[in-house]
This record gives sequence, structure tokens and C-alpha cells, in this order.
Amino acid sequence: MSQQYVGAIDQGTTSTRFMVFDHGGDEVGRHQVEHEQILPQAGWVEHDAAEIWANTRTVVEKGLEAAGIAATDLAAVGITNQRETTVVWDRRTGEPYGHAIVWQDTRTAALARTIEEDGRGAIVHAKSGLPPAAYFAGGKLHWILENVDGVRADAEAGHALFGTIDTWLIWNLTGGPDGGVHVTDVTNASRTMLMDIEALQWDDELLEIFEIPRQMLPEITSSSQEFGRTRADGPFGTEVVLAGNLGDQHAALVGQACFEPGMLKNTYGTGNFLVLNTGTEIVRSERGLLTTVAYRFGDAPPVYALEGSIAVTGSAIQWLRDQLKVFAEAADSEALAETVDDNGGVYFVPAFSGLFAPYWRPDARGVIVGLSRFNTVAHVARAALEAICYQSKDVVDVMVADSGIELEVLRVDGGITANELCMQIQADILDIEVSRPVVAETTALGAAYAAGLAVGFWTGTDELVANWSESKRWTSQWTDEDREAGYHQWKKAVERTLGWVE
Ligand code: G3P
Repeated sequence: MSQQYVGAIDQGTTSTRFMVFDHGGDEVGRHQVEHEQILPQAGWVEHDAAEIWANTRTVVEKGLEAAGIAATDLAAVGITNQRETTVVWDRRTGEPYGHAIVWQDTRTAALARTIEEDGRGAIVHAKSGLPPAAYFAGGKLHWILENVDGVRADAEAGHALFGTIDTWLIWNLTGGPDGGVHVTDVTNASRTMLMDIEALQWDDELLEIFEIPRQMLPEITSSSQEFGRTRADGPFGTEVVLAGNLGDQHAALVGQACFEPGMLKNTYGTGNFLVLNTGTEIVRSERGLLTTVAYRFGDAPPVYALEGSIAVTGSAIQWLRDQLKVFAEAADSEALAETVDDNGGVYFVPAFSGLFAPYWRPDARGVIVGLSRFNTVAHVARAALEAICYQSKDVVDVMVADSGIELEVLRVDGGITANELCMQIQADILDIEVSRPVVAETTALGAAYAAGLAVGFWTGTDELVANWSESKRWTSQWTDEDREAGYHQWKKAVERTLGWVE
């Protein structure tokens, strides 16, 4: 093959990046741009989808420049995205009807509660694998249809299109109003509460519950197949094959080469997302985990996963930086937390969007507890790092209980894995070895892998497994007593967040 590289667009909650990888899975170049977080009122989080599309064009152009290659050197491009974030736009103009509603937004919590309480929650859970929650896209789409002028009429007339961010970007890259392809993949669709996870199709009963006109929904494809070509007048400047599409947490599982049942990864981003490959079996959780499609490559059977989603981890560090001005850069949290030996009795539960897995409590709000006159911001910074790790432990414990697997190693990736103190704390709290790969950008890598597999750039998952290598491993330095005492206090702190919103 003459083309030596595969590209990946990674559209995340706070930024958009384009990365180029070679056949060994090593990074060749990247460019990244942040976008605005629009916070109109407590509990609401929005993005401007037009800004995200503009940033995508910029990062593709500059990322190719940074990699020193031409778009014609790309065998294919994959897309990965923040999941659940919901956009509705006019297919005639390409203009969104208002802002996208972000996955963290809690405005549809009452709708989720109504559905749960009137008994339809059991149908939603059984068919979609998801308990009704404000987190997922179906309720957000219902809200837009009910509250934004003209959208329902336009949807019924076939003018208004729904998409998660993958769909929005693919539609624009392939032509927008001028013939854009309207698709999503099974992983993104599995986060809407609208898809039957066995049939892998939109489900009439679920569409009825959320009052969604079917004609506004994209076609559901696998995660790895050619589903369109970029327009030559777009950011690539030529026709490039689009052949990978995965929600970002599913992409990270692929990028971590977790292809065997029982393999688990934890991605440390704005939130933390632990995803356990359960193979071709659908495993239903009794303890607050989500059942989700892990990936589907072409016509092969779909692979499923159990997921523990934690809403706020890295964004608690950003909150200390931006709102409380505790440090100038997120990376400074490590040096500050290292100035103290321990948390000084302080526990920080950043339940800013309620608590996700395994609690699913929209009525929770954040607390910092255990404060005494002795404490400084260094203790709070350390407590914020510990919160990332304790929330991960809450999920790991239920994953072990639900799946019956014995975990020996946790594969980690994402921005905060550069924070070595945080990774040490993670090993201390879990008493499981923590292993970070050489390529920590596993989300973009997973999207590139899905695209490359579809066009034969990689011949199978064995090649991807061979590309994975470890950069560092951490083992626990805490005693069992330290661990038990710390976790006991953490659980007490969690109790104090519950029921705050009445
Ligand atoms: O479910 C939300 C998740 O996909 C967001 O990931 O990395 O963009 O915060 P991230």
C-alpha cells in the first residue's frame, strides 16, 4: 500500500484534535484546539456545534501540516467523539437549531425520573442496556423537540436531522447540505436509549417513549467500514475514505487492544470511563453499570461491554484551576499535591452533575469535607486527585462483583495518566497494578485502528495487539489499613452529597 498513514479526528468534551498514526501505531503529528463550554444555568452544559465543525477543519489542516504529510498519504480516516452530546440541524442549510446539549447536562433528569417511575424505565433498560438518565441522548433530543421552536414540525417534514457529534462531523465532511452522509455507528447509537442493543437498530417502542420521529435519525453502521468520502472542497482538500467511527470510550478500548473478554481499561479525561470487554455476550448489571456495544468491525458479530461512567474527574482539576484559581495549569496539581504527605483528612466528592456509576444519583452535588484549620489548598488538590481514584474504585468493585473476573492489571490512558502521583494513588487505592501504554492517546488511536482495519491497512487485531507496549507500571505502596481507612472516609463523604437537590 502506498499510503503510509491513518488519520483520526478526536472530538472531545473540551477540545478537538486531529492525529496521524503510522503502521506501528505511533504518532506522527497532531493539532488540537479547545472550544467554549457554554453554561447558561446551573446543571446546563452546551456546545456550539458550528464552532466544533470550524475547529475540526482547523485541526485537520494544521494536524496534516504538523505531521508533514499530505491528505493523499492517508489510507483512511477514523472519527471518535464525546458521546451522547446531541445536535439537531436543518439539512437544507446545515445550521443547528440552537446549541448542542452536552452529555453532562442534567436538564432532562425529571423526564428520566418520570419514565423510571411510571414503569417504562424497565423497557428502556432491557432494550437499550441503559437505565433512564439525563446522561443519554434520547432525553436530550426529546427536550429539543419539545422546547425549540419549529423543530418538531421540521423533523416531521424531514428537514431536521439528529446526530451525536460523530454524525454531525461526518455529514459535514461528506458534503453537508450538498449530499452529506447521515450515519452513526453502533457504539454511539448504543448511548441514546433509542437503539435495541440486540437488533442494533432503532426501536419503535423506544422511539415512542421519547416521542422521536424516526425520519430524523441517522442510519446505524458498524464501527469499521467505509461509510463515505470527504469532499474535496473540505479540510482534507481531497477525497479521503472515512472508515472508522466509535464513541470515544469504545475507541479507547480498541486503542488499548482490549480485544479479549475480561480486559478492562480506564480512561482519565473530563470524566473517567471504565470499560470491560464482555465478548459477544450481553452482560446485564445488577449494580449500576451500563451495558453497551464495545465495537463492531464490519460484518463480524458485535462485541459488548460493561461500562462504569464517572461524570467528573479531570474536570474537577479544571474547576480548581478555572473557578477557584488554585493553580494556573492542570499539570501543576501534581506538584502542589506533592507538597503534602496525605490528604490531611480532606475528601472532595465532585458530584457537579450528580453522581453517575455506580450510584446514578442526579440529586447529589459536590462536597469538600473534613476541613480543619490545619488544611491548605495542597490538601484540597490531593483530595481532588484521590477523588479521581476513589470514584474509579467504586466502579472497579462493582465490575468485579458483576462479572466475576479477578482483576490483576488496570490499563489506563488519557490526559491525567501523565500525572504520576495520581497513578500511584490509583494503585494504592485499588491494590491492583496500574499499567500505562507508550501511546497514551488510545482514543484517537482506536479510531485510526477501526478505519485502518476497514481498508486493509491493518490485516487484523493481532497486528494491533502487537503494537501495544507498556511505558510504566505502578504497584500499591499503602498498607491494607491505610486502604480500608481511606475508603471508609470516602464512602462517608459520598453519603454527604446525596439528596442535596430536592
Ligand atoms: O460519555 C461521555 C464521554 O464520551 C466523554 O468523554 O473524553 O470527551 O470527556 P471525554
